[in-house]
Amino acid sequence: MNTREEKKALLVVSFGTSYEETRAKTIGAIEREAANAYPDREVRRAFTSSMILRVLKKRDGIHIDNVKEALGRLIADGFTDVLVQPTHIINGEEYEKMMDQIRPFQSCFGKLLVGVPLLTSSEDYSAVIQAVMEEVPAIGTNDALVLMGHGTEHHVDAAYAALDYRFKDMGYSRVIVGTVEGYPAFEQVVKQLEMLDPRPETVVLMPFMIVAGDHAVNDMAGEEEDSWKSCLKDRGYSVKCILKGLGEMEAVRAIFLRHMAEALDGEMTDAQG
Ligand code: CO
Repeated sequence: MNTREEKKALLVVSFGTSYEETRAKTIGAIEREAANAYPDREVRRAFTSSMILRVLKKRDGIHIDNVKEALGRLIADGFTDVLVQPTHIINGEEYEKMMDQIRPFQSCFGKLLVGVPLLTSSEDYSAVIQAVMEEVPAIGTNDALVLMGHGTEHHVDAAYAALDYRFKDMGYSRVIVGTVEGYPAFEQVVKQLEMLDPRPETVVLMPFMIVAGDHAVNDMAGEEEDSWKSCLKDRGYSVKCILKGLGEMEAVRAIFLRHMAEALDGEMTDAQG
């Protein structure tokens, strides 16, 4: 018979960022709200990007656990009930890497549940679109909003085109989704902008990433000639950049909180086998 006292934790797993300011406003905010929603659980942090973990250690002397380390410490500290919530956007490479790291620990806790990433169910897509449109300033009839997602070689890259489609379906005909490393790429964004009638005077750029980190600051809004901002200016658009990560948006954080609740309810979870 198990006589261990029940001890509960909530591990928030993020890709991570080396940008401290956006880290506090995005990942930090998600963790704070998780702590408020689950006062019976100790909230802990893990990052999945080994590159980010290395930069933080080397440059800032900050150690943040990877998933394996975080779960190992939870065992060492006597936790019996663990909910893991990723802040990843898609069910892609980083999420799969996390799941692979969690599986060996399945039998180490009385209970180990895992919530799903931001864009998983059909409902998630419309919720994210509502959340984003609540947060951006109204787009004028002659303006367009371009969202820069990350993109991936993983097959779930299709999520970005699906999101673009869903924006249009929900009536936002002047919102375009592109990615840095996947499809749709910048080329497709430009094609869509050129098809808009009337032609946009101003293009508003915003990252579709949890943090407004390196990609947002440099690839999207940077002054270099190959940034999205510079390339759009070259094409005659006036460009406005919103350097705000999705994690800064309350309604986006609410989706992660819902995914936590659903995982605890036994819906939409993975890693139970
Ligand atoms: Co990247």
